[in-house]
Amino acid sequence: MKAVYPGSFDPVTYGHLDIIERVSKKVEHLIVAVLNNPSKKSVFSLEERIQLLKEVTKEFPNVEIDYFSGLLTDYATKRNCTTMIRGLRAVSDFEYEMQMALVNKKINNELETLFMVSSSKYAYLSSSIVKEVAMFGGNISVLFLKLLNKL
Ligand code: PNS
Repeated sequence: MKAVYPGSFDPVTYGHLDIIERVSKKVEHLIVAVLNNPSKKSVFSLEERIQLLKEVTKEFPNVEIDYFSGLLTDYATKRNCTTMIRGLRAVSDFEYEMQMALVNKKINNELETLFMVSSSKYAYLSSSIVKEVAMFGGNISVLFLKLLNKL
């Protein structure tokens, strides 16, 4: 099975990496697809987000890093992929994730979203929280794979 794991990855966190590693053991090929949306302000450029992801996934031979613009369903169709992966940390994620899964299924009925529950040790992590801690001078090395000196 081939699957797409889409997201903003601004930046990738240990939580994302945990999902990537666990899913990569269950599928033949995993495409991690970074959203390229110039109208959505990101701290890391598309190139930086891709570079970080490539660095942290280099040990997983069946993981590919790519990017997409526009609708996720169009990208999935272009990549011949009908399985989408999303991580679920807590109940608070559920409403948004369910809406997204249902909208994507409405657009393309072939597309199934599979949820991977995050490991409990990373359930508190998000890209936004990492950026907030960094903004106020906190030590983020335990939260974030510090490969770029941007934060
Ligand atoms: O990491 P994120 O920000 O939670 O990822 C959200 C993402 C990129 C998966 C979602 O915003 C998306 O798919 N955007 C592309 C536009 C689209 O297809 N929208 C319709 C589905 S809600």
